[in-house]
Amino acid sequence: MITKATVDRIMEATDIAEVIGDFVQLKKRGANYIGLSPFSNERTPSFSVSPAKGIFKDFSSGKGGSAITFLMELEKFTYPEALKWLAKKYGIEVEETVDSAENLEEANHRESLMIVSGFAAKFFQDSMWETDEGQSIGLSYFKERGFSAETMRKFELGYSPDQWEAFTSQAIKEGYQAQYLEETGLSVKRDNGGMYDRYRGRVMFPIHSFTGRVIAFGGRTLKSDKSVPKYVNSPESEIYHKSSVLYGLYFAKKAIRDEDNCYLVEGYADVISVHQAGIENVVASSGTSLTVEQIRLIGRLTKNVTILYDGDAAGIKASLRGLDMILEEGLNVKVVLFPDGHDPDSYVRSVGTNAFKTYIDQNKKDFILYKTGILLKEAGTDPIRKAGVIREIVESIAKIPDSIKASVFVKECSHIMQIDERALLSELNKMRMAKAKKDSQQQYNHNQRASQQHPDMPPEDLFFDEPGAAPATPSIEKREEAYNQEREIIRLLLLYGNRMIDWDGIANTYIGPFMIAELSDVTFDSAVCKAFVEDYRREVENGVLPDEQHYIHHKEKGIVDLTVTMIATKYILSENWYDMHNISVPDEQVNMKATILGAIFHLKKHKVAQILENLRKELQNTPSEQDQEILLNQYMRMKKVEKHISDYLGSVILK
Ligand code: UTP
Ligand code: MN
Repeated sequence: MITKATVDRIMEATDIAEVIGDFVQLKKRGANYIGLSPFSNERTPSFSVSPAKGIFKDFSSGKGGSAITFLMELEKFTYPEALKWLAKKYGIEVEETVDSAENLEEANHRESLMIVSGFAAKFFQDSMWETDEGQSIGLSYFKERGFSAETMRKFELGYSPDQWEAFTSQAIKEGYQAQYLEETGLSVKRDNGGMYDRYRGRVMFPIHSFTGRVIAFGGRTLKSDKSVPKYVNSPESEIYHKSSVLYGLYFAKKAIRDEDNCYLVEGYADVISVHQAGIENVVASSGTSLTVEQIRLIGRLTKNVTILYDGDAAGIKASLRGLDMILEEGLNVKVVLFPDGHDPDSYVRSVGTNAFKTYIDQNKKDFILYKTGILLKEAGTDPIRKAGVIREIVESIAKIPDSIKASVFVKECSHIMQIDERALLSELNKMRMAKAKKDSQQQYNHNQRASQQHPDMPPEDLFFDEPGAAPATPSIEKREEAYNQEREIIRLLLLYGNRMIDWDGIANTYIGPFMIAELSDVTFDSAVCKAFVEDYRREVENGVLPDEQHYIHHKEKGIVDLTVTMIATKYILSENWYDMHNISVPDEQVNMKATILGAIFHLKKHKVAQILENLRKELQNTPSEQDQEILLNQYMRMKKVEKHISDYLGSVILK
């Protein structure tokens, strides 16, 4: 367990805008920041951060919370992982109360896998720097490749001893569980149950998560023997999903944001060499072809990608189609080819940083123009193949979301291909129409699904129509309304709970405890609202008036989400958003009495209607006349209560 004192220090040091700024490009808007949601693929910003309150709210996905919540959502961290990440960022020493062996057992699965991976990285580094074999084989190999000691330390490069069990037996000896060694792929199980090292006699490249933790490895052989695979990579695991990891991103992200450009290379060595040359905005897809997830990772930091390929043409052709994906994500793609036989690694080492940069500037081509050139050359003079090329190019252009940009490409391509611009345009329009049709159908389906049920909305059978209304099939709107009534109570508790009541008759009481007392006979249907109110009641009973910070940092994630949503609707929504959704914000503070009592009695009215409906059902199903009589009495009493509330709402509250 991380001590309370450490948690407090971390909370104090944490600047939420700074933390989120590591992942999302934020722009200042008044006291707050806005940016594109990292949780969805949007083009207009609906993600907002309030440094003053220490919260973020993402209106496209509905997520919200503190800096910790953010890290848990985005990086899929556990609570302690998120705390440790922040501690590392702010240079705070973490005090834990139980010893690390116990911790290892306690920590959840993912954390265990990361701890094992971190241990392995350390083991491989020690093997390289501290042992004779490591120095003479691993270290000297890297030196020969031109990597400086500083670079090797930064990327945590290492060496795996050329033995069957060096790593595994050391790990077991130090108390790491076989299960985790196997799941990370660091050790491989033999048929007889024993285990051996996956990596033997290889130089080791740890692969880091976006937040800098080791999650996997690539191990390069030093043998030229063709029968040995050049790289052995970690298998997929709970912490390593190849398709959503880019090698080097952790070290590159700041530079990518600063330079507003990302260089994409193929190999580990390319990343490290180029980075060492001072060009730090470089990442690799590590052998696999680029995935949409990887592109989105980049897209969160910059919209400009420059692909650096080695000169051999085979790889280039294969990736041409994959690159359309990048266009589709709205990124600008440039391509640079290196002279034959050179990859970015060898080229930067042979010509140096400045000449490397100059070369890139002079040779970068827009992806579409570049693709056009290659395909045209291939098609030669064959008219049928040329027609195919045109279609393929237009297909790429159609993927560009920005239509102005697309039309510039149409012009340039028509020039290169020497065909009429209008022919290209009409082809493009056809494709766009088809795409628009498809998109709108998808959007429709999506909306249909989304409107079915709100995730936190109580199940259908909890809400009923007004008494008297024929069959009690509750509409979605009805349930949504009831749900909103419960949430309105939470919102008012959060915003005004700490204020003194200033209306007639009641004095020296705070709004929060007053509301809680008034609601003591009400059962909340939404689980999270219920938990919130119970928590509030407990706090009040302990003599504390909980404030919004108490709920922003609550240990229940559902409560944090609810809190932020409720606070945000008033405080960090941009005015734009209100306009966009035609919402007017009445000044509820002018008549606090109406606001507070209105909310309480609207909810009560609804609850009474619910009770009445249940009684009616029970009446129908009760054969005993005596029981019916009792139920009927209850029914009449509740009817009176209902009337009472209605009158009250009608006369006193102007809503
Ligand atoms: P390269 O062969 O270009 O690797 O493959 P490299 O990193 O530049 O290595 P050097 O320069 O020869 O030392 C590019 C990437 O493809 C993946 C690795 O991620 C590598 O970095 N790869 C390659 C594999 O995963 N397995 C292989 O057998 C080969
Ligand atoms: Mn290479």
